[in-house]
Amino acid sequence: MQGTAETTPAPRKNGVAPQVSDELAENMKHGWADTERQDLDPVPQAEHTARRRAALSARFPGERLVIPAGRLKTRSNDTEYPFRASVEYAYLTGDQTENGVLVLEPAGERGHDATLYLLPRSDRENGEFWLSGQGELWVGRRNSLTEAARLYGVPVKDVRTVPDVLREATGPVRVVRAHDAEVEKALADKVTAERDEELRVFLSEARLVKDAFEIAELTRACESTARGFEDVVRVLDRAEATSERYIEGTFFLRARVEGNDVGYGSICAAGPHATTLHWVRNDGPVRSGDLLLLDAGVETTELYTADVTRTLPVNGRFTDLQRKIYDAVYEAQEAGLAAVVPGAKFRDFHQAAQRVLTEKLVEWGLLEGPVERVLELGLQRRWTLHGTGHMLGMDVHDCAAARRESYVDGTLEPGMCLTVEPGLYFQPDDLTVPEEYRGIGVRIEDDVLVTEDGHRNLSDALPRRSYEVEAWMADLRG
Ligand code: GLY
Ligand code: MN
Ligand code: MN
Repeated sequence: MQGTAETTPAPRKNGVAPQVSDELAENMKHGWADTERQDLDPVPQAEHTARRRAALSARFPGERLVIPAGRLKTRSNDTEYPFRASVEYAYLTGDQTENGVLVLEPAGERGHDATLYLLPRSDRENGEFWLSGQGELWVGRRNSLTEAARLYGVPVKDVRTVPDVLREATGPVRVVRAHDAEVEKALADKVTAERDEELRVFLSEARLVKDAFEIAELTRACESTARGFEDVVRVLDRAEATSERYIEGTFFLRARVEGNDVGYGSICAAGPHATTLHWVRNDGPVRSGDLLLLDAGVETTELYTADVTRTLPVNGRFTDLQRKIYDAVYEAQEAGLAAVVPGAKFRDFHQAAQRVLTEKLVEWGLLEGPVERVLELGLQRRWTLHGTGHMLGMDVHDCAAARRESYVDGTLEPGMCLTVEPGLYFQPDDLTVPEEYRGIGVRIEDDVLVTEDGHRNLSDALPRRSYEVEAWMADLRG
């Protein structure tokens, strides 16, 4: 497989083939210490990944299940995007190595035997470790297969054998698609789209209710995110002197230092950009008197992300109109949050928030009542635009392959984690609202865990009420 040819691999640095004398090639083979690590403990989530695999095994008895991590993607020429393992693979293994493949082999009464296929350490004999662009001297030491087995609590074999293993396999097989073209090629005549989709749906629905490890990760993600928002408030004057990019860069620093990355492109939307729901160009000015809509989330090293929005007055004080709109969104969020309880329908919190926003729009004279009629026709949506929330986890829009009856038409259960994020957006070119409304966008978004008796707001370290936001900003800016 990639970067592991049996003969001396093609050199990649600058695309220029280095001249290697026989003497140098021989020299590079020798004189390296044995660095095998004997002291490794299993990764903290090993017991959880074992339980998750057992649930998968029980759902598909007697079938071979193939879950690839995915491969590096080219950014340009010989540079790649940072690698992020597929959520299905990371969820079931705790590993995040590119090219990895988890295979569950049917094992009769035992259910399945799991095998993790990974690339072994670079070979010192054939020069791959220093001559290949993916060799260990270029990109870093890999775990040996023995080390990986200890870390992840499953037997580990050489991933270069996977195409043959899969081609030779008999009996029913399913694969999680769209991550590894080579794996899919090896399975091409054994799988069907419909059966593979059932595997994807199961793994999406399995993640609807978070286990203790996942809840701890989401809590950590929210805590880091709150620190990232504080970082941004402290540098708002520098953002004013530069652009929204200063805000993006400031938050990114926190995400990279404390986590893996941002969980999605940070939305750093100042002034009228706040009315663009996913404004990620972030190249506009930040002006005193405007609002800044900051929608950003730290993704932890184990790939769980927060998804938090605060709408902040750049100069620290809301104008009267900004406050009126902000407070309406706050009230809508409160109504939404109150509807996040076990046993409620997933749709309930959206409907509760939409009702409040609609009442305000009627009260302000932007829509003609009665409220019931507006809600029935959905007329408020010109300014509310999006749903009030979604599941959150390893994907910002988590569990997206879940069936309607389990998710959007389903019921909230303890352990589910979701966002509550109402908003009002008055486009700069909206001639149906008074001029002073135009270009104002407000969203407030929190991450909420459904508990046995209600919910816990994981992002409540950040203030939400307008006057609390002002006091918090004043405090941070000294
Ligand atoms: N950050 C994207 C969302 O709120 O859904
Ligand atoms: Mn969201
Ligand atoms: Mn968001």
